[in-house]
Amino acid sequence: MKIGNVELSGQVIAAPLAGYTNTAYRKMLLRLGAAFCVSEMISDCALIYHNQETLSMLEVDPSDHPVALQIFGGKKETLLEGAKILLSNAKCDFLDVNLGCPVNKVVKGKAGSSWLIKGREDELEDMMTSLVQISPIPVFAKIRLGWSKDTINCIEIAKRLERAGVSLIAIHGRTRQDFYKGNANHEYAKKIKEVIHLPLAVNGDIDSPLKAKEVLNETHADFVMIGRASLGDPSIIQRIDTYLKENILLPNPTLERQKELCIEHYLALKDLKGEYKALHELRSVAPLYFKGFAYSKETRIALTKMEKEEDFYHALSIIHE
Ligand SMILES: Cc1cc2nc3c(=O)[nH]c(=O)nc-3n(C[C@H](O)[C@H](O)[C@H](O)COP(=O)(O)O)c2cc1C
Repeated sequence: MKIGNVELSGQVIAAPLAGYTNTAYRKMLLRLGAAFCVSEMISDCALIYHNQETLSMLEVDPSDHPVALQIFGGKKETLLEGAKILLSNAKCDFLDVNLGCPVNKVVKGKAGSSWLIKGREDELEDMMTSLVQISPIPVFAKIRLGWSKDTINCIEIAKRLERAGVSLIAIHGRTRQDFYKGNANHEYAKKIKEVIHLPLAVNGDIDSPLKAKEVLNETHADFVMIGRASLGDPSIIQRIDTYLKENILLPNPTLERQKELCIEHYLALKDLKGEYKALHELRSVAPLYFKGFAYSKETRIALTKMEKEEDFYHALSIIHE
């Protein structure tokens, strides 16, 4: 499939994950077969205030393509201003708008899933229409089912996003009220696909090649979007991509393979942020690479405490088959 000028190589999208999907991690997921990756969410106001840490989130490595950078904000004016800064400073292929984040701090600022609250539909459509008008690259939207179980409005929202000129919608099959509780419900994705003509990505609890295929078959969506399942298991992207393309079920990665991928992740992060920050960031995700492996407890604990590069390599050396 082609979106804008960009040819997409498959049906697996790497979801935005705040604190993780920076350019270092994204280039690894792309190498492993992601059709494109979505960045962690970037605050419109922080861009406007030239916050240095936020500006560093605009970095896109030459091998980090195709990539969508995701913006969030609660007001049309600041979103437009923030998007202009993003678009003029970042070499990204797509602009993604976060209309689904459930976190209190974000929702309080009328951003994320608060855009789905009943009564804001006109405001949302107007904001997205304006964003599409100022953006030289395709604009995507990531939504949830609605604000709450009683106010599910994703079908109307999807129609409005299509009218606004959005080029792709990703839907996480939960409401804001659900946060991450319960199972994702993909029935609405199917209904959306019946009424809009845009590429649709389904998201939520897709954690295996079989599940990915089942969800695509059931919903007739164009893409699956993979989030948490890729943390500590980036090659799940490759396993899903291979299964969807060739009907081949690759085996789960061996311990040695997980070590290699964890090292690749560390080295890419070190390149981007230096040793200290890379190790601190990796403390939360590196242990996940070894979850489920026998004799991994000591390694996992050591990885949560590493201070220096030698601590990282030592932690990896004490685990064995
Ligand atoms: C740690 C974490 C960070 C996330 N950050 C973002 C984000 O920055 N932007 C966004 O739209 N969604 C974000 N999400 C939501 C995910 O993109 C995804 O919609 C959700 O995890 C459901 O998909 P999954 O079951 O495949 O993980 C985040 C989720 C998690 C767990």
